Amino acid sequence: AGSALLAATALTPVLAACASETPVGLTEDGRALPIPPLLEPDADGRFELTAMTGTTEFLPGVASDTWGYNGAHLGPTLRLARGRSYEAVLTNDTDEDTTFHWHGLLVPAHADGGPHHPLEPGASQTIAFTPDQPSATLWYHPHPHEKTSDQVRRGLAGMILLEDPDEHAPGTAPEGSAPSAAEAPSALPAARTALPHEYGVDDIPVIIQDLRVTEDGELLGHNFGSDVGMLGETVLANGAPDAVLTTDRAVLRLRLLNGSLGRSYGLQLDSGDPLTVIGSDGGLLPEPVEVASVTLSPAERAEVLVEVPEAGVALVSRSPDLGNVADPEGVGGTDEFTILRIRRGAEGAASAGTAEGHGGGSSAATSANGSAGTATTGPASISALGLPAVLAELPEPVDGGQQRSFNLRGRQINGASMDMERIDAAMSSHAPEVWLLTNLDSAPHNFHVHNAQFRILDVAGQAPAPEFAGWKDTVYLRPQEAVRIAVVMPHHEDDDGSLPYMYHCHLMLHEDDGMMGQFTVDAAAGSAQAGSAGHGGH
Ligand code: C2O
Ligand code: CU
Repeated sequence: AGSALLAATALTPVLAACASETPVGLTEDGRALPIPPLLEPDADGRFELTAMTGTTEFLPGVASDTWGYNGAHLGPTLRLARGRSYEAVLTNDTDEDTTFHWHGLLVPAHADGGPHHPLEPGASQTIAFTPDQPSATLWYHPHPHEKTSDQVRRGLAGMILLEDPDEHAPGTAPEGSAPSAAEAPSALPAARTALPHEYGVDDIPVIIQDLRVTEDGELLGHNFGSDVGMLGETVLANGAPDAVLTTDRAVLRLRLLNGSLGRSYGLQLDSGDPLTVIGSDGGLLPEPVEVASVTLSPAERAEVLVEVPEAGVALVSRSPDLGNVADPEGVGGTDEFTILRIRRGAEGAASAGTAEGHGGGSSAATSANGSAGTATTGPASISALGLPAVLAELPEPVDGGQQRSFNLRGRQINGASMDMERIDAAMSSHAPEVWLLTNLDSAPHNFHVHNAQFRILDVAGQAPAPEFAGWKDTVYLRPQEAVRIAVVMPHHEDDDGSLPYMYHCHLMLHEDDGMMGQFTVDAAAGSAQAGSAGHGGH
């Protein structure tokens, strides 16, 4: 590969021109929620992703320079199946080094796209991996050394839907045994088919990101005086401000991803109705959990079921206590956003039209659309889905094994900044460990571990809320809070353990400022550094 393709810069203006002809669909009272196209690997498991530049209209008629995968902004939704082998052709058509990281997917370190694998402008690379973990909503984004926040801010992010066609019980995966088609039927296939699963129809990706954009379309970075990094005034759903989803379904599954750099959200319905949480970062929960609000810090996901009343409903964020504070006078002080308005109408969105919002719930007789009244496709309520009593079978997390402590303060973990040459921990596959994560600051952090779906043992000494008790790869740490997690690393046959994985704060400015460390899994004997000893339990 190499940088021989630098001449590819000639491509950029062409791509930019194409992109600007397809702005996010404008409607009179909001923009139709863009649904990222599905990217399905071919029969040989091959797919291509290219990071490129383009322009996007966040403000009507004003072009902003953005980056995207296979397009001008964000990326296609990658649909993968457990147990299939994939070959990804990754190309960098931007003018900076970048990487392709598969957040939440357990892959060999050489395919993980961490900061050790920069891809130069114009270069291509092919990687291979075989997912072996439960169905889940994951995502991909760049991870270049000290530049992650900047590249995600410009638009490099996309969703991954991992599906387990055989639906064997989650948690049996790490042994690496191939799923057996002859396994006795269980409740799990029932969950899979009962849950809404038509992509873009009743199974809706929602990438939530905030944005700072000037009148002339320039995208700004971090706010002065913010503890958490960038806090945008505008909140986007799949890249669109003021997004509206028109649906003929009474029940939707929303796959919520906080793809923001620093902002955490308290997601809820403006109607006051509960959200029914069915999944966390790494898969389905044992059973649905009704909550008034679900908290997502950067990189976290939740799958929720929502009943859409005739009058419509909106997904909003109210998060006065999540640490989204810039300077006292500045933005971020107000912390209420409408992220996605959902209204009933004929499928096909834009034509359906005119239902005026549901703001405040005062408007009676909202729908001006003839067909919107009673025409509904699919189950009329969550209970009509006929969900099985058990959505997923999760093993009890193991509270034992090697203990490690990770103290987060300032932009350091255990008093050290990220050093690409230092290995902070050497781990063995299949060996349970307990990690104690402590936020010593008065501002929030969170903590993400590569190559793992872990379980939260306790938060400030208490059992985690049920919506956070399932598979997780990122956990929010409130100021002064301590969280214990149970971690088990899988083994990858084609991984010799020589390359490290990362753990880090996923508030992306913190990460770029050095709040990150490295670990190996199954490193060859002798290369396990003394570094790990320093982080043993106390
Ligand atoms: Cu989402 Cu180390 O990253
Ligand atoms: Cu942090």
